[in-house]
Amino acid sequence: MTQAILTPDTAPEAGAGAQSGGQSKKVFVKTYGCQMNVYDSERMGDALSRDGYEAVDTVEAADLILINTCHIREKAAEKVYSQLGRLAKLKKQRNADGGDLMVAVAGCVAQAEGREIIRRAPVVDVVIGPQTYHRLPEALARARQGESVVETEFPTEDKFDGLPKTPETAIRARGVAAFLTVQEGCDKFCTFCVVPYTRGAEVSRPVDRILGEAERLASAGVREVTLLGQNVNAWHGKGADGREWGLGELVRRLATIDGIDRIRYTTSHPRDMDDALIEAHRDLPELMPYLHLPVQAGSDRILKAMNRRHTAAGYIRLVERIRAARPDIALSGDFIVGFPGETDEDFEDTMRLVREVNYASAFTFKYSIRPGTPGADMDNQVDEAVKTERLARLQDLINEQTRAFGRECVGKVVDLLLEKPGRNTDQIIGRSPWLQPVIVDAKLGKIGDIVRVRITQPGTSGLFAEPAE
Ligand code: 5AD
Ligand code: SF4
Repeated sequence: MTQAILTPDTAPEAGAGAQSGGQSKKVFVKTYGCQMNVYDSERMGDALSRDGYEAVDTVEAADLILINTCHIREKAAEKVYSQLGRLAKLKKQRNADGGDLMVAVAGCVAQAEGREIIRRAPVVDVVIGPQTYHRLPEALARARQGESVVETEFPTEDKFDGLPKTPETAIRARGVAAFLTVQEGCDKFCTFCVVPYTRGAEVSRPVDRILGEAERLASAGVREVTLLGQNVNAWHGKGADGREWGLGELVRRLATIDGIDRIRYTTSHPRDMDDALIEAHRDLPELMPYLHLPVQAGSDRILKAMNRRHTAAGYIRLVERIRAARPDIALSGDFIVGFPGETDEDFEDTMRLVREVNYASAFTFKYSIRPGTPGADMDNQVDEAVKTERLARLQDLINEQTRAFGRECVGKVVDLLLEKPGRNTDQIIGRSPWLQPVIVDAKLGKIGDIVRVRITQPGTSGLFAEPAE
């Protein structure tokens, strides 16, 4: 019996290499980065479980260590190399004991570095990029024959063709809320970002495959799906009615599937937020009132240098239209401080935009160079100390907005999807429409139930609530 591949939080540390027992092959998966990587790890897990692998949660117990990497942070590749250095020691020890440990590197660092990974870290048996995950079992088989396998080319045909279907057992183990990839890649080429180089061009998954997967998820007990894509709202496809659909039409169709009660999507670009999607927010109770809509900066000069192709005023007008359609929508964003050439005034524009929009949450980053992107060649890089100071000020402002949002929720009556047991056995944790974890009495219902509650108080790791009646 196989199980879903888990992605434990502990980083793979080389330690005493205990020999794994039993007959089935064992895989340890470590996932870094975004939800797309979490989803991809699950898909690779599905492919491996059909290949006879079982998930384990320590590197010591594994026959295969699979690292799904992220390239978005600074020195991402160097961190992977130092981790591989530790794994090399473990592999040497295990193989000296007669074992046969394999190491595979997936994700965006795999895509960006390619064969260089095996050159610098011969411990690696397989390097596999995000577009070729369906070939993982075959790549491992070739590696077992002694080949160093590098699979990083972007397929020219539909790259979703080979995507394995999710077995129901795997879905069940994953619970009542699931990710569903609908789009991959990015054509936007923001000048700070590696994604267009590591994930390739924008490609949309065809409607029938998305609906098929959503129906399988629903029949396995999933009640909430989060549609994933680097530029998810750039998704488009030929609908059942023969017309070209955008994400708004897709969401409308998904909302008709029995059992799918909640729909979310991430991450969106302001340029691709079209009327149909905004109308879907107005019309569909299934579409949750939460939107991650990164703006990155509040200065038009910087937005231009970032090649964002929108202005601050354009973003604010868009937010107003979205809020007119769905007044209770919670907004979240991404911000970069210290992009090359950012002056004090530019930064104040960002602070002004944040005050005007009022976010429920946001991710904030100091600009850091990604080799190969246009930003890396800009000669007006901002001093590190200046970036640190700006980041702290922006974070203070956003933290204050997040706390205020939590306080404003007190007294509201909301539907919670109960997702997992609480830390105390008499508690259960649900998710609010605005994505907040909410802790309630376990007697209120079981995992998978949607229950109506009144928020009573904000807490450090989530809100508290009581039955609404
Ligand atoms: N420096 C800092 N932050 C970055 N991001 C992407 N590239 C960089 C970079 N070079 C941030 C952006 C993006 C988020 C996922 O990561 O804000 O939206
Ligand atoms: Fe990167 Fe910009 Fe594409 Fe987002 S839209 S993935 S920030 S290039």
